[in-house]
Amino acid sequence: MCGIVGYVGGQRALDVVLEGLRRLEYRGYDSAGVAIVHQGELATEKKAGKLANLTEAVSGHTVADGIAAGSTGIGHTRWATHGAPNDRNAHPHLSEDRAIAVIHNGIIENFAQLRTELEAAGVEFASDTDTECAAHLLARAYAEVPADTTSRLAEAMRRVARRLEGAFTLLAVHRDLPDVVVGARRNSPLVAGRGQGENFLASDVSAFIEHTREAVELGQDQVVEITPDAITVTTFAGAAAEGRDYHVDWDASAAEKGGYDHFMLKEIAEQPQAVADTLRGRLTEHGEILLDEMRLSDEDLRDIDKVFIIACGTAYHAGMIAKYAIEHWTRVPCEVELASEFRYRDPVLDRSTLVIAISQSGETMDTLMALRHAKEQKARVLAICNTNGTTIPRESDAVLYTRAGPEVAVASTKAFLTQLAAVYLVGLYLAQVRGIKYADEVSAVVEQLQRMPEAIAEVLKTMEPVRELARDLAKSGQVLFLGRHVGYPVALEGALKLKELAYMHAEGFAAGELKHGPIALIDQGTPVVAVVPSPHGRESLHGKVVSNIQEVRARGARTIIIAEEGDEDVVPYADHLIRVPRTPTLLAPLVTTVPLQVLACEIATARGHDVDQPRNLAKSVTVE
Ligand code: G6P
Repeated sequence: MCGIVGYVGGQRALDVVLEGLRRLEYRGYDSAGVAIVHQGELATEKKAGKLANLTEAVSGHTVADGIAAGSTGIGHTRWATHGAPNDRNAHPHLSEDRAIAVIHNGIIENFAQLRTELEAAGVEFASDTDTECAAHLLARAYAEVPADTTSRLAEAMRRVARRLEGAFTLLAVHRDLPDVVVGARRNSPLVAGRGQGENFLASDVSAFIEHTREAVELGQDQVVEITPDAITVTTFAGAAAEGRDYHVDWDASAAEKGGYDHFMLKEIAEQPQAVADTLRGRLTEHGEILLDEMRLSDEDLRDIDKVFIIACGTAYHAGMIAKYAIEHWTRVPCEVELASEFRYRDPVLDRSTLVIAISQSGETMDTLMALRHAKEQKARVLAICNTNGTTIPRESDAVLYTRAGPEVAVASTKAFLTQLAAVYLVGLYLAQVRGIKYADEVSAVVEQLQRMPEAIAEVLKTMEPVRELARDLAKSGQVLFLGRHVGYPVALEGALKLKELAYMHAEGFAAGELKHGPIALIDQGTPVVAVVPSPHGRESLHGKVVSNIQEVRARGARTIIIAEEGDEDVVPYADHLIRVPRTPTLLAPLVTTVPLQVLACEIATARGHDVDQPRNLAKSVTVE
């Protein structure tokens, strides 16, 4: 939520910052702004709405303007929390003397108290934001720090950071300091980029990846100062600290559309590769699982007597599917819980509980807070995460990285499929070390798992009729989704995609619940998507879903059936039939989800919506 960029070096800061914001826009797009330091002046521009509005506003500036000429700057793209998304509340926010500009991601929880204190001291606020407090506090702290202090702005930032409560990443520049950007971090993302004669700060590496792939992970409660030649990290108390250097193993082209109209289309198409990458090196030719990054010993895993999965949004649906797989393969009880609910109901956890936190971004605040709660209760935490070096994997005992590459579209697609691949690996690994499943059974599933990227690719080749159908469904008022067993979370995911992208009423149901209420929603022509389990799996499951389809059809529903190749039982009841390759029941979500992603993407496009940046959403939800 909110994207921030800082730059010092030899390039035109405006270009670097705007390009960084373009890559971070998925984090929020309510407004955007920049502040550039040039020859003792601080030039700013900010505009409500998408980044394009800001770009247009600055395009008129000539090189004679400080904003176009400076080589030190910061930029922000906003997802509004405090204050409406207008020009006035857009970041940066300035101190009263206009010497300091501040941008912020997060929520300063004691802002009301700070604002009252500042107003009592005569400060006049220019916005409704919590961020503006930080700008005024920073100006006051800067004035108090002796002028000859080295890193004076960093010292002022430490003083301010110690007073703030809540979650924040702050970046600041001062008009008298042409080569300095200072940042502070608590519970919000911030990473530094190490260049040659230039350095960067950003919410994530995509903002500077075209300039450098050398990144520095910053810890919690740290202040960082960048100059063209140095990245200096301290704690809030002022003690020297070190970031962890790491190399980003993808390049800028991975975060480009690469000829697709939307990132989402590209990311859907990348799924076979993303799943193959996630499995790579983790399965041996003898059908065993290798998970070096687990950092939990086999002994630890043998002691586990309960698994909790915590996640939000799409990742939560991956968790629901994981429950079916983990319980079936390991016979260890597994609960799945929305991260935002978890800690408030006092869950029963101890040393023998394994908590699995699933998060694409690694920064989702609800998941992070749930994880911390689990750690306080002494549970062991394993993160399944897509973004290297982020807070959730850092704070977990172990991590299994999904290797989806950068996911830019706000609605998650390839990250979801790789999360599934990862939870299957974890489930099978647990089964292997605990000896619950016989080795040959594990290796049979491993073999099937290895064939899944190919099966996903096959589904993608047959999506044209789904696109046609989507254009036809675009005028519908609602779409309902039905599924059972692992098809139930798939139905929920299909409905979520449609809500997120097409702003349509869509609901997913456990097909067995149909007659307990939802069937009342069915009217003449209501589109109902049914995810049918394999007839080769548990016989009864397949038969029951086929009966549910008949029930809705008898009441006028227009049925859209997702069924395995060769499943002839569904043919008489399908107004539209979408075929997927034959797969084992537990692995089926890897293929059945794909047509639902395509369906939602196409319906949204037909309705004229921006599929990559749906209204009101942000990809990385870094506030609770
Ligand atoms: C937001 C995104 C979803 C995502 C969820 C969890 O709501 O729009 O696509 O599933 O956050 O994000 P995470 O990064 O923790 O997987």
